[in-house]
Amino acid sequence: MAKEKILVTSALPYANGPIHLGHLSGAYLPADIYVRYKRLNDDDVIYICGSDEHGVPITISADKEKVSPQVIIDRYHEANKKAFERFGMSFDNYSRTSLPIHHETAKEFFLEFYNRGLLVEKKSFQFYDEKANMFLPDRYVEGTCPKCGNEEARSDECENCGALYDPSELKNPKSKISGGAPTLKETTHFYFPLGKYQPALEKYVDEMNNKYGWKDNVLQYCRGWFKDGLKERAITRDLDWGIKVPVDSAAGKVIYVWFEAVLGYISSTKELSQQKNQPEFWKKYWQDPKTKYIAFIGKDNIVFHTIIFPAILMAWNESGKEQYCLPQNVPANEFLNFEGKKFSKSRGWGIDVDEFLDLFAPDLLRYTLAANLPETRDTDFYWKEFQLRNNSELADILGNFINRTFTFVFKHFDGKVPMLGKLEKIDEDMLKEISEYPKRISDLFEKYKIRDGVNEIMNLARDGNKYFNDTEPWKTVKSDKEKCGTTLNICLQAIYTLAELFSPVLPFSTEKLFKMLNAKPVEWKESGKPQLKEGHQLKKTEILFPKIEDEKIEAQINKLPKSELEKEKTELISYDDFMKIQLNVAEVIEAEKVKKSKKLLRLKVKLDNEERQVIAGIAESYEPEDLVGKKVVIVANLQPAKLMSLESKGMILAVETEDGGLQILNVSEKVKNGTRVK
Ligand code: 2FM
Ligand code: ZN
Repeated sequence: MAKEKILVTSALPYANGPIHLGHLSGAYLPADIYVRYKRLNDDDVIYICGSDEHGVPITISADKEKVSPQVIIDRYHEANKKAFERFGMSFDNYSRTSLPIHHETAKEFFLEFYNRGLLVEKKSFQFYDEKANMFLPDRYVEGTCPKCGNEEARSDECENCGALYDPSELKNPKSKISGGAPTLKETTHFYFPLGKYQPALEKYVDEMNNKYGWKDNVLQYCRGWFKDGLKERAITRDLDWGIKVPVDSAAGKVIYVWFEAVLGYISSTKELSQQKNQPEFWKKYWQDPKTKYIAFIGKDNIVFHTIIFPAILMAWNESGKEQYCLPQNVPANEFLNFEGKKFSKSRGWGIDVDEFLDLFAPDLLRYTLAANLPETRDTDFYWKEFQLRNNSELADILGNFINRTFTFVFKHFDGKVPMLGKLEKIDEDMLKEISEYPKRISDLFEKYKIRDGVNEIMNLARDGNKYFNDTEPWKTVKSDKEKCGTTLNICLQAIYTLAELFSPVLPFSTEKLFKMLNAKPVEWKESGKPQLKEGHQLKKTEILFPKIEDEKIEAQINKLPKSELEKEKTELISYDDFMKIQLNVAEVIEAEKVKKSKKLLRLKVKLDNEERQVIAGIAESYEPEDLVGKKVVIVANLQPAKLMSLESKGMILAVETEDGGLQILNVSEKVKNGTRVK
């Protein structure tokens, strides 16, 4: 019997551009690993997603290309759906918010609130582009934030400081359509009374956190919003792309994208019910109080999932009709950057999933991203790290353990699982270790610590290699074949456990591995017990993780746009920044080699009326005696550091010579010690 009923959603990505690695790390891969783990845990889980096809991001893309929004969403919905499939995302349904079933769902919620008199119709001033003859919602207007001065703030929201304000407060507004200054024109909108739900929302967030432990970044965000006080929010827009407001007086208006997109999770589940021919299926998840609903998102979506969506559901639940479940947890991730910078389509910085998968197998990407998820801070994708993770972890640790074990078993035991003979302490310890892994990993996954879980699974492969080395089967095969068999039996049991624990992370490779083992996954918690019987026939070996050659990685690095790399080199600093670095002339008064180090010299230098010790990495270029009496330039206000246990206070300036040596910057002997270099 299934243990838990779990509903998992990942943010519905806008269908206005290709999915890139940053998206995957934020809301998709961690959810997929969690869901795959839950399925193996024998829980009843459904995983729901789809394209977000309304809102300004779509119309902006359409405007840029001078095509209709429909062209954009059709193109990117199909492309993203396929890219997700190639990456191994195991959604139960990937829907789209342009479907009639979604429009009906959104209108049903809107009308429920409208008919109950919950929505307030109010006049307000909105930006209007006289040239383009249209109201300019949100992202069509840019200006200076009234709170922090950010010059790229949106019309009613600043991404830099998180402030929300009335469009009339934005300074120096500019229309993104015509480039001119927009006017403010009166219009009517429907407002949802978010403030009314503040006490209930605060209670909800506290309760969920107390029971289920929310992430700190998410809690802090919510508390910030509560502190500022929730205000009513317009949930309609003057736009012609979207879900028409189902009220006669609101002709030409659509429902605000964020009000309806979150309801897309419900309509996607309804679509799944239709596909299954079980019209009531979706209710088993959304309307059962026992459901554990987990919403995976990136940090830019927090307010919508912890405040706005719960408020919408609370407002519905007040109707006394069917009761919806609210998210039990919202494990929002920080961002993934690419080679040290934000992903940017327009600057060509980053790589799309499709492009990536044309070059490398999906599991390699899944592993690298999973082992480095931005769960507690922003992280980076680096090509070199990708290569290193593949070559020295997947290939050298996991692949090598599997390969050496299989090769041995085929060579000496006809590819059959050898008998488990008399156990020595080392064998018992290893069996115990294997048995403890599934729980250790599930404890981490249950807390949404997916990254730690993945890194921990690799430790089982490390343990396996160590056990193989320590038991020396290449010796025992000649001296004590039964003992050798015991070692290999235990190694195979470890490989079985690895196949199971890694299957949520590496679904493609572990499918092959299970074929090699000629076995199937069992329930997660059973996977640490010996599953392979003596005499069980294994199947032919294949290399699961070939190494990635340097050239292949270099080719990718060389493709990075030169203009961006140049920018990095010439990034300007202010005069004040420069003046923060205190450069002084210093005379070397003592110099000696640092014991046991090829590179380091210990120098004593004299400034104005102070002497200090500096450890410098110049021993390969200078003999100590050549330095005494020389005047050099040091960074005098560098934080002290310890090198080979010796304190170093400052750094000597030097240039690299063509042969790779170092040449110290010399100052004439006439310059007084301690003189500031400016
Ligand atoms: O940030 C985004 O890509 C949004 N389209 C996410 C929407 S999540 C939910 F509301 F559907
Ligand atoms: Zn701001």
